[in-house]
Amino acid sequence: MDAIFTYVFIFLLTLLSFLIFMKRDKREEPEKRAKLPPGSLGWPYIGETLQLYSQDPNTFFSTKQKRYGEIFKTHILGCPCVMLASPEAAKFVLVTEAHLFKPTYPKSKERLIGPSALFFHQGDYHIRLRKLVQGSLSLDIIRNLVPHIEAIAVSGSDSWVSGQVINTFHEMKKYSFQVGILATFGHLEAHYKQELNNNYTILEKGYNSFPTNIPGTSYKKALLARKRLREILGDIISERKEKRLLEKDLLGCLLNSKDKKGEVLTDDQIADNILGVLFAAQDTTASVMTWILKYLHDEPKLLEAVKAEHNAIRESNEEGNQPLSWAQTRNMPISSKVVLESLRMASIISFAFREAVVDVEYKGYLIPKGWKVMPLFRNIHHNPEFFADPHKFDPSRLEVAPKPNTFMPFGSGVHACPGNELAKLELLIMMHHLVTKFRWEVVGSQNEIQYSPFPVPLHGLPAKFWKKSTC
Ligand code: HEM
Ligand SMILES: *[C@@H]1O[C@H](CO)[C@@H](O)[C@H](O)[C@H]1NC(C)=O
Repeated sequence: MDAIFTYVFIFLLTLLSFLIFMKRDKREEPEKRAKLPPGSLGWPYIGETLQLYSQDPNTFFSTKQKRYGEIFKTHILGCPCVMLASPEAAKFVLVTEAHLFKPTYPKSKERLIGPSALFFHQGDYHIRLRKLVQGSLSLDIIRNLVPHIEAIAVSGSDSWVSGQVINTFHEMKKYSFQVGILATFGHLEAHYKQELNNNYTILEKGYNSFPTNIPGTSYKKALLARKRLREILGDIISERKEKRLLEKDLLGCLLNSKDKKGEVLTDDQIADNILGVLFAAQDTTASVMTWILKYLHDEPKLLEAVKAEHNAIRESNEEGNQPLSWAQTRNMPISSKVVLESLRMASIISFAFREAVVDVEYKGYLIPKGWKVMPLFRNIHHNPEFFADPHKFDPSRLEVAPKPNTFMPFGSGVHACPGNELAKLELLIMMHHLVTKFRWEVVGSQNEIQYSPFPVPLHGLPAKFWKKSTC
């Protein structure tokens, strides 16, 4: 049902924008001095747009890049768009001239997450919120989370029956959501966790479906779930206010913030940002963890080296009777490179999405005001000029630091991921837990990818896990 709506919607949108564009192009083109980048803008080819969203977006980009070079124009969902596939261009858009490009999301998605969430914003409000989020996710704060994250990893896998097929991605999503909750609220009562989790699952299902208010559709259900989430968050916020605690988790940071005029954040602003962080934290981390398990499974020698690294730690922790320490998580040289190489290979955030706020000139090309601008992380990560033999999984390549602006799994500049250290920490902790206590086998077809919307191995990497007998 939703799929049909989506296709019809995309079709109409494409048609409409095409008509608008035919008119605009004629009026504006002759006056501009700098030229538009190469590429085809003519008929916003519907097949192409659908391909971008339903199939492998990376084939789309790399075909274009081969044909036109590092900068080219195209249509995405009927919007004219400039794609940039060089490190310099990515830096230009995300770092040095970041003020000329604003984040852009469909209104329907903003409504689900909450319009005050930081990643929709630019300027003073964004800077203020970003400082708070960054503060709550800084090394000094997350170092205290290590034993709690380990406990979440352990309790999640308790329900796995040895040899029974599980959907790895789903299990990893449960984990990353719990860690997100931990970073946001510290300790939260179990009933709140459950209600947040259940309602969030409904919200998430609507995120990539056709936006409509018709009852019964995924999007409408998601809007209703969003309303309930807001209520739950409202209850948690009032409880916390009554207790007058000065916690340093995200909620604490948001509650204690005052701007220059002494104004505090509204409950709506706090709720939107909490949902925003939970949203940004879950599928990203879970899909990378799923990829790590696949890559390790495919590289037995590497897996042995990783196991040796973690078994040594486990032994020094009295066979796992002592919890992992922060210092130990900072000293996992092989595993850290596996994490980074997985981030490069999978490039789960393939690109950033911005809009030019004024006419911008880059290397003699015009990027007109209102056009979408996409720095293509994945193309940079898979360019043999920067990463030799780019399709090979080879963590040792990261013994040498990548060239500037060629490694951006967490983005770059003013909107770069504030959760990057937490993400890496939870990936390492999950790896430690799995390689020391389990062996696993991937089930079924192993090399297909699904886009949901992040790339994940098909069907979430079905796998069987066996717990090692401990004596
Ligand atoms: C491996 C996991 C993750 C990856 C690959 C990832 C990647 C990214 C990227 C590429 C961006 C920048 C997007 C852009 O410029 O448009 C971003 C932004 C963001 N991420 Fe992450 N992320 C991950 C995990 C997390 C976690 C665990 C959290 C929080 C606990 C988080 C919170 C955020 C937030 C709040 C933003 C928006 C920042 C802003 O707009 O200023 N992310 N992430
Ligand atoms: C959603 O939240 C409400 C509280 O607002 C709660 O009563 C309900 O059980 C939750 N829904 C689900 C499916 O858990």
